[in-house]
Amino acid sequence: MIEGLGELLAWNGAGLLSAGLTVMMFGLAVVLVVQAVINGIGPVPTSRAVRVRIRPLLPDSIGGDILELGAGWGGVAMCLARMYRNNKVVAIENSWPVWLFCWIRARLLGPDNLTVVRADLYDVRLDKAGLVYCYLFPDAMRKLRTNLTQAPPGSLLLSHTFSVPGMQPVQEVTASDLWRSPLYLYRLGAVDGSADASGGAV
Ligand SMILES: C[S@@+](CC[C@H](N)C(=O)[O-])C[C@H]1O[C@@H](n2cnc3c(N)ncnc32)[C@H](O)[C@@H]1O
Repeated sequence: MIEGLGELLAWNGAGLLSAGLTVMMFGLAVVLVVQAVINGIGPVPTSRAVRVRIRPLLPDSIGGDILELGAGWGGVAMCLARMYRNNKVVAIENSWPVWLFCWIRARLLGPDNLTVVRADLYDVRLDKAGLVYCYLFPDAMRKLRTNLTQAPPGSLLLSHTFSVPGMQPVQEVTASDLWRSPLYLYRLGAVDGSADASGGAV
């Protein structure tokens, strides 16, 4: 009788746990979709083919912090943190489930110069940036123009697929992925505070 009761309780416990997990996963999926609709973009990661193309574009050292605006699942931020061990790398993401995954991943695997922050990318100050990386969408690039004026002279912006309207990249390359994704490298921080369109060799 007692044995039967124990089995019943264990069965109910396991049932409750699995129901709880299902509800939680469903809730996270709903939040993820809603946030993607609000943001105008979902957490599509930079592919390996594009990451390979990024590496030779960047200088050996960066003066200042490295920021990934809209870091998604954290793949690029982790690569950058490993490439630049002496720089602070900040991964910014506002979608709760995506941020949580990225934060746990960085805690478990990330180098200790990587910080994952839940914030709106348009609210982030860029005045300590040495390098900014983003993979967003055309409207976000337009909105970001104002924020980019905060970046110190000589800092860099690397944008996956989408260019900054009205700015001239110092380098533009194409990745070997299916979409032949373009990568735009900009030099930021002109003396007059406007995004520098003149550029120069990196
Ligand atoms: C196309 S994904 C790129 C992810 C990552 N940067 C990569 O290249 O693998 C764009 C990311 O930006 C995030 N995002 C969009 N708008 C944002 C905002 N206003 N604040 C913070 N993150 C945002 C999205 O949630 C998404 O994870």
